[in-house]
Amino acid sequence: MTRVGAIESRHRDRIAGILRGAEIFRDEEVDVALDLFDSAVDTASGVHDAKAASTIAPPVSSDYSFLGAFTPEDELAGFACYRPTPATDRTCDLYWIAVDPDRRRMGSGTILLNEVERRLKGLNARLVVAETSSRSDHSAARGFYLRHGYVETARARHFYAPADDRITFTKRLQSRGKALEESAAHGAVTS
Ligand SMILES: CC(C)(COP(=O)(O)OP(=O)(O)OC[C@H]1O[C@@H](n2cnc3c(N)ncnc32)[C@H](O)[C@@H]1OP(=O)(O)O)[C@@H](O)C(=O)NCCC(=O)NCCS
Repeated sequence: MTRVGAIESRHRDRIAGILRGAEIFRDEEVDVALDLFDSAVDTASGVHDAKAASTIAPPVSSDYSFLGAFTPEDELAGFACYRPTPATDRTCDLYWIAVDPDRRRMGSGTILLNEVERRLKGLNARLVVAETSSRSDHSAARGFYLRHGYVETARARHFYAPADDRITFTKRLQSRGKALEESAAHGAVTS
């Protein structure tokens, strides 16, 4: 049974291993993830508690929150990283979500995503944004987001590299009634 919980500084190497093991992230991308990890994890206590961020406050670098999915043996099987998107009204970025390649299709990603969304709803977040690549080796992420109710809302052609588009997936967290109210307020046409 997978458990979701706080990530500690001792998990840094494991996070690097999960990302490198995925074989789809460039070294610079792994470095970015580790830099975020270092800024988010409280190195004094060695513990990061995503619950500590109790409001959607003006973003700073430490607004990144990390969550871990743990096996019954307490091994880190995967992690997610998210934050309020700077200069938006309650939009949040799902910045990373990754599961150990040997533990995929066992529900860890779903458990992580459900918990991220639960926490974001608790912060009154309105919209979750996740970006991924159009490359064939990113098909797992696209299938995963679609399976969980995310919709493709934008595509920037050749963004990452020639023939490597950036696909933006979004998911509304609020109720449909609220969404309709909001659309009406903005004069948008809804179907
Ligand atoms: C995306 C990822 C996190 C999913 O984690 P996971 O633990 O394997 O996901 P789950 O087991 O919860 O899968 C839930 C559903 O997502 C969909 N899905 C997951 N992997 C998929 C794949 N390779 N192809 C198509 N659909 C997939 C399926 O509908 C799956 O349900 P099913 O297994 O009953 O068919 C994992 O594949 C991963 O780490 N990928 C590399 C990192 C990455 O690309 N992250 C996203 C961008 S940062």
